Amino acid sequence: MAKKLITVHVNGKAQEKAVEPRTLLIHFLREDLNLTGAHIGCETSHCGACTVDIDGQSVKSCTHLAVQCDGAEVLTVEGLASKGVLHAVQEGFYKEHGLQCGFCTPGMLMRAYRFLQENPNPSEEEIRHGMAGNLCRCTGYQNIVKAVQYAAKKLQEPVTA
Ligand code: FES
Ligand code: FES
Repeated sequence: MAKKLITVHVNGKAQEKAVEPRTLLIHFLREDLNLTGAHIGCETSHCGACTVDIDGQSVKSCTHLAVQCDGAEVLTVEGLASKGVLHAVQEGFYKEHGLQCGFCTPGMLMRAYRFLQENPNPSEEEIRHGMAGNLCRCTGYQNIVKAVQYAAKKLQEPVTA
């Protein structure tokens, strides 16, 4: 199949690549751009380990074609920290021990990043529901809820110079 030239803005940088139309976004990110934070945990769109942010929405990148992202803004876990300072969601997972093996973590972080913009002050139930598209086999989710609560609180703090 002929390749198609696409430009995808990933973590603020334009990436121009020729891809086959059938290339899944997760493979484009991992294999063409070497952004290997997003993981593959299933073939049935359940686990959410591949979750990235596309044009302001959480998307499972295993169920999206790279060619569909021509011109789109994509954010991956590698783009969350700014000038070496962790984003509040990363700090939350770190402080509250929201990860063990770390395989689900990039997807969890990207989902939490978007979820807290959708719902800046969520209840525990809303967090569990809002993160329900992301499976974790290690943590039992309890500390992930705490991590999201930590990040929500941190994001509400007034910014100090
Ligand atoms: S790899 Fe499991 S939902 Fe994408
Ligand atoms: S930390 Fe291992 S799968 Fe979530």
